[in-house]
Amino acid sequence: MTKRDFLQITDFSTDELKTMFDLAVEIKAQTRRGECPTPLAGQSWACIFHKASLRTRISFEVGLQQLGGGSLYITNKEIELGKRESIPDVARVLSRYVGGIVIRTYNHKDVEELAEWASVPVINALTDFTHPCQVISDLLTIQEHLGTFEGKTITYLGDGNNMARSWINAARRLDFSLRIGTSKDTHPGELVDIAKSEGARVEVLYDPIEAVSGTHVVYTDVWASMGEKDKLGEKTDALKAFQINNELLTHADDSAIVMHCLPAERGREITDEVMDGPRAVVFDEAENRLHAQKAIMVTLAG
Ligand code: CP
Ligand code: NVA
Repeated sequence: MTKRDFLQITDFSTDELKTMFDLAVEIKAQTRRGECPTPLAGQSWACIFHKASLRTRISFEVGLQQLGGGSLYITNKEIELGKRESIPDVARVLSRYVGGIVIRTYNHKDVEELAEWASVPVINALTDFTHPCQVISDLLTIQEHLGTFEGKTITYLGDGNNMARSWINAARRLDFSLRIGTSKDTHPGELVDIAKSEGARVEVLYDPIEAVSGTHVVYTDVWASMGEKDKLGEKTDALKAFQINNELLTHADDSAIVMHCLPAERGREITDEVMDGPRAVVFDEAENRLHAQKAIMVTLAG
């Protein structure tokens, strides 16, 4: 069997993604019942993190333990990709020890190169380009709260960053309408046109009220991502109209939910009143990282 990787949502077909959601639902129910099947027993996975992480690191490490496997947390001190040794050499060495590789780093091409040379599955735990595991968990959360994500309108407000691009990739495979509310200076780039040319329902809107009007999900992320915190001033100037606050939410559907991948910069892209209010499902999203990523790992491990 050829090994599979999960570097972007588009690595999987629509049917494969639906099977993965069903598996995540089943795994979550099992975990809630206290059942803990261990399909990864005897495997250790490498978890390479070149950026900070609370949710991703802990949910992968706990998920691996729950699946019967072990995890190795590896930072820049141990592996500086391409510096102490080449990425193909790191990939081939690691593949002799571990059952899979989870990696969070800057350059998406590094992760693609690692996956090309590794003979074990590689999972993208966030690059500057995309953060696919987050959106799988978020779609699971939408399904739980709204019954389905199919046919819904999802509005992403804020920077055209790795999260925005992950939502665009999800819209290329799954049946929902995506609106991106952002400024001209923070547009997510050519992926929008690629998605549209494939028939995905993706639009970029520069008016926050138009972007949230009647929508079912209002989503945001920090305005300056890891690695570009020096741009916070200019991003804030460009995006301040896109803050999620109670006033903006009056334009969304009455039952709309509010989502944030976290960490949040409260008072900037989202207010306290919304984060702590009845529409926010942010901690359910955080929990679902665990269940969704267990499903991703089990799928890749075959
Ligand atoms: N949402 C998310 O990926 O959080 P961390 O950066 O804490 O892993
Ligand atoms: N866009 C954010 C997501 C954090 C989970 C970042 O890359 O820092």
